[in-house]
Parts: sequence; structure tokens; C-alpha cells
Amino acid sequence: MRVGILTGGGDCQGLNAAIRAVAKSLMLNYQAEIIGIEDGFAGLIERRVRPLSYADCSGILSQGGTILGTSNKASPFNYQGQDCAKAVVDYYHELALDAVVVIGGDGSMSIAYELSKLGMNLVGVPKTIDNDLMCTERTFGFDTAVSIVTDALDRLRTTGHSHKRVMILETMGRYAGWIALYAGVAGGADVILLPEFPYDIDEVVRACKQRASDQQYSIIVVAEGAKPLGGKLSVQQTVANSPEPVRLGGIGEALKHQLEQHLQAEIRSTSLGHIQRGGTPTATDRIFATNVGRYAADLVAQGQFGQVVVQQNNQLTSVPLAQVANQSRGVTLDDTTMITAMSLGISFGRDDLRVDSHSRYLVSNS
Ligand code: F6P
Repeated sequence: MRVGILTGGGDCQGLNAAIRAVAKSLMLNYQAEIIGIEDGFAGLIERRVRPLSYADCSGILSQGGTILGTSNKASPFNYQGQDCAKAVVDYYHELALDAVVVIGGDGSMSIAYELSKLGMNLVGVPKTIDNDLMCTERTFGFDTAVSIVTDALDRLRTTGHSHKRVMILETMGRYAGWIALYAGVAGGADVILLPEFPYDIDEVVRACKQRASDQQYSIIVVAEGAKPLGGKLSVQQTVANSPEPVRLGGIGEALKHQLEQHLQAEIRSTSLGHIQRGGTPTATDRIFATNVGRYAADLVAQGQFGQVVVQQNNQLTSVPLAQVANQSRGVTLDDTTMITAMSLGISFGRDDLRVDSHSRYLVSNS
């Protein structure tokens, strides 16, 4: 067997652990030859690949980033204005690949789905700090990002407490609030603002004032995709030629200015940005990336193509790429952590998000 591996989309912690697991499993158990595809789908478009030896895949388990490189600007279906999909399929056949393992998020899985319809044998492995891939309870990278944000919250808490300030922390996550929700709960935030539930500024003010009468400082976590009720997303920039051109950012500062009109306390805003995606993966992410990588290798060996490895009910399984492509998974009111946060009185900037005495969520107008 001759199998290609690529990492697509934004990088995250655990990519090298996954590459290692896919490659080692295929080499050790199926005597496969591994071809590393450079910079995601760009490598297939620009014909940049290299053989990966067993040694190349050793000693990389704990490394952040990806030894193969990645790109979130290279779709074969629209590469600098050109449709290169047919050339990519031709190159795949020229390389005599039996399959390609695509380690990616929703964007990469959507591309993989389209390429699979053109006859390429593809297997997906779920990664992204955003944790927003459909059909899976987890993606690797998420746990590490949550740990980084939680650590930042612990630090903001001590300085916020000393100065009696309102401390705002903006997280990544695109249109999903998973990082903000999980880190907010882990870091004891007073207010968590998510893209899924546009916030009412009066409710945020109310929560900060209530907190001020008690602890005199407040911690607010705001996801980059959050927006005020009736307001707009905060867009930082638009990246030309990217399948997902919008880059979010700036809601933390915008919220600071909004709150300054209503609160006497000093307010400071911090944005962690790409720090959330860098550095070594947590043990949890290493193990999950290794498990999904090994599972993907088995799918390839069994000829089960057009599938993505997912975790459902705490078990690894796979679903067709079609079920994952062109969709994303946001926070819902029935999520356990969401219910817990509401039960503990964390404000989501809404007066209509509540739980009853049995921790059942009540209403949402969104
Ligand atoms: O999808 C991962 C992610 O880090 C998002 O959370 C964020 O919105 C985006 O990628 C940032 O993209 P870039 O690395 O192109 O700035």
C-alpha cells in the first residue's frame, strides 16, 4: 500500500501525534509506504510531496505545529481563481496512491468530500481547536486550547482582583463557542459570551454590577464569534483566496468600549489569538490524536474510504464525509457544560437562558 498524509486548515496541537500514529500504524501493521503531502491541499495542487520514513515520524509526538506544513488558503476547487481539482486527481493517480489521510477540520473535510466524489480514496481525521466538527464529540487541539485559555484566566483573575477591574478575555473558536464555554467554566468566569447566543449588553452590565457588590472584580470570556443582539460580527480581516475568507477578532475591545459607558470600574481586554494554537499538546490531546490516527490507518487498510473518524458516545467510529462536509457544530442549550454553567449562575448575557430546579434548561428566543 502507498498512502499519502496531509494536514489541512489552521494548525493545532496534536497534528504531529496524529501523523505519527497514522504512519506508524500503516508501516508496522500493513507494511505501507507513506508519502507526506506538504502544506495541506497546496501540496497536491503544486506537486510537493516527500516520502516519510519511520524515523521521520519518530520523536514528534509532543511537538506542536505540523511537520508537513499546512494551509487554510488552498482549495483545489478555487486555487487563486482556478479549478485545479482534475489536476489534483491526476496527480494522485500519478503518485500511485491507494489512499490519502486528510487530517483537518470542517473546511478540509468539505474539500475531501468533493475530491472523494471525483474518485480519490480519502479518510478524514478530525482536528481543530474550535471543536466544531459535525458528528464528533471531540477534535484534538481543543483540550490544549482550553488549557491555555484556562491558564490565562487564572492569571487575569489575580491581577483583576488586585485592581478591582473587569477583565475581558477574547478566545478563538470561529462561529462556535466551545473554547469560551469550557475555559470559562474551568476558569470560573462570571460572564461567558458565545456566538450561539447573541448577548444583551444590559444583562452583561447587570452581571458585572451584581458581581461588583460581592467580589469587586469580574471575569468575562467572550468568543471571537460573539456579537450583541441585533449587532454584527467583529471581523478583523478578510483573507483573499481562502475558502473561509473571514477572520474574526476584536469583540473583546468592542465589548470593553460598550461596557465603559455603563460601569465605573476600569476594564481591560486581552486577546490570546494564536497562542491558543501553539505549543505542545496536552496528554489528553496526544492520546486522542494517536487513537484517531490509528483508527484512520485501520480504515485505510480495510478499504473503508470516504469516511471520517469520529467519537460518539465515548467510542471511536466513523461516518461518511458527506455527514461532516459543509457544516459545523455549535454549542447547544442541552450541552452538559452549558447546563452546569447556567446552574452555577454564570451569565451568558441573556435573561432568557435559565435552568429550573432540576437543571433543565428553560427557554431561548435565539
Ligand atoms: O479554525 C481555527 C482558528 O484558529 C479559528 O479559531 C480562528 O478563527 C481561525 O482559525 C484563525 O485563522 P488564521 O490562522 O488564518 O488567522
